[in-house]
Amino acid sequence: MMNEKIQNSKFKIQNSDYHIPVLFSETIDALNIHPDGIYVDCTFGGGGHSRGIIEKLNAKGRLIAFDQDEDAKKNIPEDKRIIFIPQNFRHLQRFLRLNKIQSVDGVMADLGVSSRQFDEGERGFSIRFDGPLDMRMDQRQEFSAADVISNYSEQQLHKLFEQYGEVSNSKTLASHIVLYRKQMPVQTILQFKSLISPVVKGNPNKYLAQVFQALRIEVNDEMGVLKEMLQQLPAVLKKGGRAAIITFHSLEDRLVKNFFRKGSFEELPDNPFMSEINEAIFKIITKKPIVASGDEIKRNNRSRSAKLRVAEKL
Ligand SMILES: C[S@@+](CC[C@H](N)C(=O)[O-])C[C@H]1O[C@@H](n2cnc3c(N)ncnc32)[C@H](O)[C@@H]1O
Repeated sequence: MMNEKIQNSKFKIQNSDYHIPVLFSETIDALNIHPDGIYVDCTFGGGGHSRGIIEKLNAKGRLIAFDQDEDAKKNIPEDKRIIFIPQNFRHLQRFLRLNKIQSVDGVMADLGVSSRQFDEGERGFSIRFDGPLDMRMDQRQEFSAADVISNYSEQQLHKLFEQYGEVSNSKTLASHIVLYRKQMPVQTILQFKSLISPVVKGNPNKYLAQVFQALRIEVNDEMGVLKEMLQQLPAVLKKGGRAAIITFHSLEDRLVKNFFRKGSFEELPDNPFMSEINEAIFKIITKKPIVASGDEIKRNNRSRSAKLRVAEKL
């Protein structure tokens, strides 16, 4: 009866047009799924990883799926075991409580933007198209990349291009933007590219990709939301529950690594007393991050920078 119900489930997402999940089987295996458990996918997107989770659940199991992008909603299947929460995962615990869930058996996140978001010029994430200089994952938010470019001080711009994009001439870029932004409108990608063209250094595509990455991280407060979500994991995970987080750049990976190891985001020296305290929170399942195989990278170039880290709540 139970199996029949699951087979009849309308969860038929294989939405590779929308997004190809990275490190799919590695992530699902890492979650060590109990069929009647409760799991959270913080980043539903095209639902690829969610599909892998739901396939392992029985009729009692539950999947709580977050996505702050309205567009992801269309990928939600009709399946009573899924609760979709169209919110930022920074509110993880709040929305679990609102759904009367105190703790869960596993939490996963596959950070960043989906291929669909990236491939739609209108969303403003990609250097390949023209469109509004937007980059908001959550379109209810008012603050966009155009606001960053128009309103940030030279120092703020310098810092964000340096930290989030590792842009080699971030100081020059910031001062150029501040000097010339009043002389021309900077509301679209083409306008922005034209504004900064005199200071583009090295390979233009690589340079622009770094600049765009930095803006995207800032607009969506990607570091802030990741920290907030990680800090809620000790309270939200049951004992033995797993967290599996896929990151795409070193700043994110460092946050996850340090938090799993030390319960903090600081680069603390390896102090034996600290690690004793923090062993009380997580057992590290992946001493080194899991990365994509050569085959996966060939099939899906996006997987080349993916790193999966897994920890278990003690
Ligand atoms: C890389 S995609 C996830 C793809 C998904 N794992 C799949 O297999 O289709 C990231 C998704 O998470 C969403 N997202 C990113 N950051 C978020 C946040 N802080 N809160 C909620 N959703 C977020 C994005 O809108 C996007 O749809």
